[in-house]
Amino acid sequence: MSISPEAGADLTSHGPTELAELDIAPEVAEGAAPEREISVGVGDNIMEVKNLTVKFGGLVALDDVSFNIKRGEILGLIGPNGAGKTTCFNAMTGVYKPTSGQVLLEGESLGGRQQHKITRLGLARTFQNIRLFGEMTALENVVVGLDARHGTSVLGALFRVPRHRREERTAIERGMALLEFVGIAENAAVLSRNLSYGHQRRLEIARALATDPKVLCLDEPAAGFNPAEKEELMTLIRAIRSDGYTVLLIEHDMKLVMGVTDRIVVLEFGKKLADGLPAEIRNDPRVVAAYLGEPEDDAA
Ligand SMILES: Nc1ncnc2c1ncn2[C@@H]1O[C@H](COP(=O)(O)OP(=O)(O)OP(=O)(O)O)[C@@H](O)[C@H]1O
Ligand SMILES: [Mg+2]
Repeated sequence: MSISPEAGADLTSHGPTELAELDIAPEVAEGAAPEREISVGVGDNIMEVKNLTVKFGGLVALDDVSFNIKRGEILGLIGPNGAGKTTCFNAMTGVYKPTSGQVLLEGESLGGRQQHKITRLGLARTFQNIRLFGEMTALENVVVGLDARHGTSVLGALFRVPRHRREERTAIERGMALLEFVGIAENAAVLSRNLSYGHQRRLEIARALATDPKVLCLDEPAAGFNPAEKEELMTLIRAIRSDGYTVLLIEHDMKLVMGVTDRIVVLEFGKKLADGLPAEIRNDPRVVAAYLGEPEDDAA
């Protein structure tokens, strides 16, 4: 992180009024990522997960799993508790080193790279258990994400060279645009630990978007939400996709997943059980059995 203490102090000194005066673009792609191509149609494979296996000692948490993510789609990753969904995210984003297999982003192998390098290549994620900087404001949390991609060195930031000052200004404007986009701009100056649970979840998404990802991975972003809050979040996820991002979504609520995804990959006991359109998945007896916890074969 290359935010100097001075830069931090600067950010907190922007009160809500001053923040509101900034010229905020309504669309995330305009405000936060001006060079981004908007409304990318579903197209070629942007990511390939090939024969991915993750073992923890004797436990095979992910077993030879392969699937593709198409550019511009919302792909659901579902499965019962312990199926390996989070492990899959962790192996894709560099938290765990896969035991075997490959993860490709636009043809480039991510295997063995460090997390921040993978972020820089264009893969961002949120966590099942919220991870924010509690003692930083909402805006600062997002600026940290923006910081992950801009060019100023740590030294440049410490000595506040003109380029850094310019970037800081842009970072605040873009950070505000992102907070606006996820619907929590009025809380920009609030410490993230004081935000409501729902706003913390939204802030995590804003922070991940700040890295200008090609693919955004969301690990149960609607966990703990009531049905109305879940519906609002799904609207946000659709808006993110409309802005040209590709989304990989882990979500338990089948109804929700069916309503928002273009395609679904189902995991069970670390293995891929099915891969298809929502309607196909909904009617797949193996998936129904996995979710109801019933044996596939009645005679068994
Ligand atoms: N760091 C770890 N060390 C050992 N075992 C682990 C580790 N992480 C996950 N596991 C195990 O791997 C399996 C898959 O866990 P994972 O968290 O990926 O499941 P999940 O599909 O995300 O489940 P949930 O819906 O409950 O979040 C589980 O049996 C879990 O206990
Ligand atoms: Mg999980």
